[in-house]
Amino acid sequence: MIEAVAATAGTQAEGSHASPTGAGVAARAGEVVYFDGRYALKSQVMVSPDDRGFLLGDGVYEVAGAYDGRFVALDRHMDRLRHSLRESRIDESIAEPLESVFTGLLERNGFADSGKAMVYLQVTRGAAPRTHAFPKHPVRPTVYAYAAPFSLVGELSGGVSAITRPDLRWSRCDIKSISLMANVLANQEAKESGAFEAILIRDGVVLEGTHTSLFGIVNGEVRTAPLSNLILRGITREIAIELCRANDIPLREAALTEDELRHADELFLTGTTTEVVPILAVDENPVADGKPGPLTTRIADLYRAEIRIAAS
Ligand code: PDD
Repeated sequence: MIEAVAATAGTQAEGSHASPTGAGVAARAGEVVYFDGRYALKSQVMVSPDDRGFLLGDGVYEVAGAYDGRFVALDRHMDRLRHSLRESRIDESIAEPLESVFTGLLERNGFADSGKAMVYLQVTRGAAPRTHAFPKHPVRPTVYAYAAPFSLVGELSGGVSAITRPDLRWSRCDIKSISLMANVLANQEAKESGAFEAILIRDGVVLEGTHTSLFGIVNGEVRTAPLSNLILRGITREIAIELCRANDIPLREAALTEDELRHADELFLTGTTTEVVPILAVDENPVADGKPGPLTTRIADLYRAEIRIAAS
């Protein structure tokens, strides 16, 4: 159902055991990054203080996950990156060679064969003297990407708690913008309350988490907010929806109201590095009996099986 892409890009000479600089020094996992068109050691990367990502948060990003060296739905992450670039009016053609960077970073950091790894990739509008409008003379977008292991998921799969917060983000949440101040503040409040995530609510409509998509089960039906400018097109969300449809689990893309959130039979979060995790409490009130619910457990199992297929 979902396509996986193996980490086969790149040449042997530039592989995980060789220095990207050609000096023959072995790089530690995560040390090799991609910046401005080439692989380099992270310690050697110099970002201009005029970069519009740094000065204005003027850029977009993607995060894709790989299992045993194979990415989950990389094609969809690339589609979403192109959408973010297009809607931000950053030259979309910059995305074309970047698919190979996802796989290239796994290889060069020793993640090509086993374990879970994620690649973060961001594109900013480039470096130019600060102006609110686009640079007067066109500049090259800045691309930066790194790979890192993720193992958080095992610790979360038993369930997490969440808080609710008003959604203070802008109204183009479909763009995966690097300007994340509202997400950062809400997630920090979650952390300070001992919770994993803040669920964002706008005008009584429950939308998503600060870095995850949200699902609820009400009257035996799985519900999640429909795609719009107010949520991100979560790739894990999409896979969860497809798994429900393929397995005759009733599902409707209709947002929960705040009242439904507080009385839902089950709630769960989805995300690339979060996978599918049950929410056991919201604002310190247990969700139903405070244990992972049967439908959530089933969808989490289906997702894990799907990932295994994608990675094999
Ligand atoms: N976050 N909603 C928001 C606001 C997100 O930032 C994310 C992803 C998701 C889940 O999308 P996906 O299933 O494609 O990962 C939903 C990433 C992981 C991040 O910011 O690190």
